[in-house]
Amino acid sequence: MVRSAVFLSLLATISGVIARGSGQTSKVVPGAYIFEFENDQDTAAFYKQLNGEGSTRMKFNYKLFKGVSVQLKDLSNHESKAQKMAQLPAVKNMWPVTLIQAPNPKVEWVASSTSPALQARDVSPTDPSNFPPHQMVQIDKLRAKGFTGKGVKVAVIDTGIDYTHPALGGCFGAGCLVSFGTDLVGDNYSGFNTPVPDNDPKDCAGHGSHVAGIIAAQENPYGFTGGAPDVTLGAYRVFGCEGQAGNDVLIAAYNKAFEDGAQIITASIGGPSGWAEEPWAVAVSRIVEAGVPCTVSAGNDGDHGLFFASTAANGKKVLAVASVDNKNIPTVFSLSSYKVDSGDSQQFGYVSSSKAWKGVTKPVYAVTLDTTIPDDACSPLPDSTPDLSNYIVLVRRGTCTFVQKAQNVAAKGAKYLLYYNNIAGALSVDVSTVTQITAAGMVQDSTGAAFIAAIKDGKTVTLSMVDPDSATKQIQFADNKATGGALSTYTSWGPTWEVDVKPQISSPGGNILSTYPVALGGYATLSGTSMACPLTAAAVALVAQARGTFDPALIENLLATTANPQVFNDGAQFYDFLAPVAQQGGGLIQAYDAAFATTLLSPSSLTFNDTDHFVRKRQITLKNTSKQRVTYKLNHVPTNTFYTLSGDSPYPAAFPNEAIAAHASVKLALQTVTLPAGKSITIDVLPTPPKGVDAKRLGLWSGYITVNGTDGSALSVPYQGLTGSLHKQQVLFPEDSWIAKSTDENLNPVENGTVFTIPAPGNAQSTDVLPSLVVSPAFGSRQIRVDLVLLSAPPKNTKIKTTKFLDTTSIGQPAGAPILWASRGPSPISWSGELTDNKFAPPGTYKAVFHALRIFGNEKKKEDWDVSESPAFTIKYA
Ligand SMILES: *[C@@H]1O[C@H](CO)[C@@H](O)[C@H](O)[C@H]1NC(C)=O
Ligand SMILES: *[C@@H]1O[C@H](CO)[C@@H](O)[C@H](O)[C@H]1NC(C)=O
Ligand SMILES: *[C@@H]1O[C@H](CO)[C@@H](O)[C@H](O)[C@H]1NC(C)=O
Ligand SMILES: *[C@@H]1O[C@H](CO)[C@@H](O)[C@H](O)[C@H]1NC(C)=O
Ligand SMILES: *[C@@H]1O[C@H](CO)[C@@H](O)[C@H](O)[C@H]1NC(C)=O
Repeated sequence: MVRSAVFLSLLATISGVIARGSGQTSKVVPGAYIFEFENDQDTAAFYKQLNGEGSTRMKFNYKLFKGVSVQLKDLSNHESKAQKMAQLPAVKNMWPVTLIQAPNPKVEWVASSTSPALQARDVSPTDPSNFPPHQMVQIDKLRAKGFTGKGVKVAVIDTGIDYTHPALGGCFGAGCLVSFGTDLVGDNYSGFNTPVPDNDPKDCAGHGSHVAGIIAAQENPYGFTGGAPDVTLGAYRVFGCEGQAGNDVLIAAYNKAFEDGAQIITASIGGPSGWAEEPWAVAVSRIVEAGVPCTVSAGNDGDHGLFFASTAANGKKVLAVASVDNKNIPTVFSLSSYKVDSGDSQQFGYVSSSKAWKGVTKPVYAVTLDTTIPDDACSPLPDSTPDLSNYIVLVRRGTCTFVQKAQNVAAKGAKYLLYYNNIAGALSVDVSTVTQITAAGMVQDSTGAAFIAAIKDGKTVTLSMVDPDSATKQIQFADNKATGGALSTYTSWGPTWEVDVKPQISSPGGNILSTYPVALGGYATLSGTSMACPLTAAAVALVAQARGTFDPALIENLLATTANPQVFNDGAQFYDFLAPVAQQGGGLIQAYDAAFATTLLSPSSLTFNDTDHFVRKRQITLKNTSKQRVTYKLNHVPTNTFYTLSGDSPYPAAFPNEAIAAHASVKLALQTVTLPAGKSITIDVLPTPPKGVDAKRLGLWSGYITVNGTDGSALSVPYQGLTGSLHKQQVLFPEDSWIAKSTDENLNPVENGTVFTIPAPGNAQSTDVLPSLVVSPAFGSRQIRVDLVLLSAPPKNTKIKTTKFLDTTSIGQPAGAPILWASRGPSPISWSGELTDNKFAPPGTYKAVFHALRIFGNEKKKEDWDVSESPAFTIKYA
């Protein structure tokens, strides 16, 4: 275990506090730093200066990134050592190593590793040319024309790839589907320890194998292929079997993939930030500039609403991909049979939640015979209910929890429970806490309705349940009427803190069937922007193959301007206005249109910034590369304005942000244009922000400039602007800093004046209870200072050196401060008493004074810093 004096957080958020369910958090690795150099000679000079006081985590000997990341040995003075090394003339940049959590999409289902191969399938929707996610983005049309991504090298930065999977080629190396790549970290890498690279990028976590299959799965019993099955894949493994990855590892992986000749690099990885200057984002932007398109998932923090972009998706020129829900939800059913009275045996499928179904043949008891009842078995069953122990009890899903329903039927003796769905498809439910229920499962709504129709006729329906471990499996695709084609509720919203458009585009990511490691079951359906991103990478491969170019700017423009903007949906219903640009970028990609567009429209998006920095005029460029004369009509389709803040609250609202029917008007310098051969034209776009928007609530207005050609082309450019001033927005409120215990994941405040007895200087371990200095900005801040003010009299014979920042006289900042490129939400710094100048603070009573720089703020201006002071706390050294 790493001996660590401090556990710090740089980019904000602790799992379970702010990045709920997303699994995306960022932490600093104590004593680990990235140093970037101008050239290799400088590297040698650097090592001389390092003088054995640290070990190398990663060497960056790359064309676009030269330097090292090091783990300094002496954690008691790492900050000052690092600062000293950063002063070397050769050092171009220094950043602390921060950690990004392994992506954590929702696992909808995983095939059982012990189940026999799929024996039956519902063939029509699983024909590879007919795979729903491919139809949604026109990959099916490109495939029908013979485009398969042949020869394109796609690097996947992830948990590795299970290349032993038959649908992922079965081997690793030249001639295999997974033909290049490496393991940068080793199985045991957690993020905090030193990576131990090896040459084998095999996946032990699952995520990367699912991502890889979305790009390039070969034909398989589940009847699908990846979007571009003839590419070759590079597996760049950046996670151990568990844990997190350092940004140094991610930077190295990107550069390695670039130098290995990857033509497309994709990463379904991210952490909350919203700043394009974050170092990993900077590294990816450079690679895009060098000619390689990079797709990165937008993030799964949609529940936080507007302004929650994540890195590296927030990088300039990085293609940030949002997620759209699948129109058809794939479900694997275990086939069993039923009889009506003594009739013929008929087949039906169920999704098991328990394996205790073996040999169960019993009649069905339906709690009600009403197949539209919203709250079946949500209340205790009536006294007239018979003993249910000899039945398979049928209950409709809805209103209360599965467990509550299970408790109510169990109270009448039930042991076997089948739910029938109230929407399409079926899922696995967990009622393991209701111990009386020995087996549970779910059937589709139509199956439940068939059973109940027979019972209503006075017949007996008897089910013969086949053990899920031996049942024949059948995959079925259920029509997703509720959210199919809509932006997924979990997809993270932009824009960046500087009002850059994020995401750029959207792609199916909700309920996506793909490969999974053989040892974990082989196939699975997952939901997340992690799934949308690789399908976009596959689309880029096909478009590049069709057009004969990988030019990232051209591909971004083509994908964004041929995409279809989708209507807004809050997870329950569709609305009559489009989803905002901050949620979907250009919309759902249309790969065929992008591949064959002869009218080129650019750029990929327009931002008019906020009111203070309002850009009066931007331009779009139209170019006709076709052989025919085309007349274009220009127009614009606005969508509603979304408020960042709800009511009078100064804190950004959660999803779904309130939308009002206020639309910008847009003046286009030309409404009709006829372009002769090969000619292009630049057209001014002058928006007038919408009226009736409360600027104090920061209304983000957006829409699409549309271009329709007589050749049938229909293109659009997303635009956005913000009514309100981000600079005026207070980013930190006085009450938003507090002291917690470093061991408390929930960061609960401790009482005013709490005394912490902490280990002697230099001896703190990660398990010690240290004061955690917590700051929770309401908005992002590119810098948060943390000044420690001694409130008690200094110990006798101790000379206290003080420094002054604005009105605060302090003994200095804690190691790990300042906090850079912060997202909103809590950022804790666990304090061992160490200061940034290598000294330890004397024992005493302190408060922490946090200064957060406003968005677009000037560091030199006092009024651009918001201040919050923590309650008092006392440290004593043991
Ligand atoms: C990984 O860690 C385990 C347990 O600490 C150890 O037994 C194993 O040898 C390590 N493996 C490698 C490759 O270092
Ligand atoms: C918005 O304006 C500010 C101030 O000029 C600038 O720094 C920022 O980059 C602008 N945002 C975009 C996306 O251009
Ligand atoms: C655009 O349309 C003209 C017809 O006026 C056609 O001749 C020309 O080839 C097209 N442009 C380009 C770049 O080919
Ligand atoms: C442009 O084309 C789109 C897609 O075909 C269509 O929905 C829209 O109505 C057209 N707009 C105009 C102004 O013709
Ligand atoms: C916290 O304690 C300090 C003294 O330790 C006291 O001055 C201050 O008023 C207290 N604050 C609150 C909010 O109770």
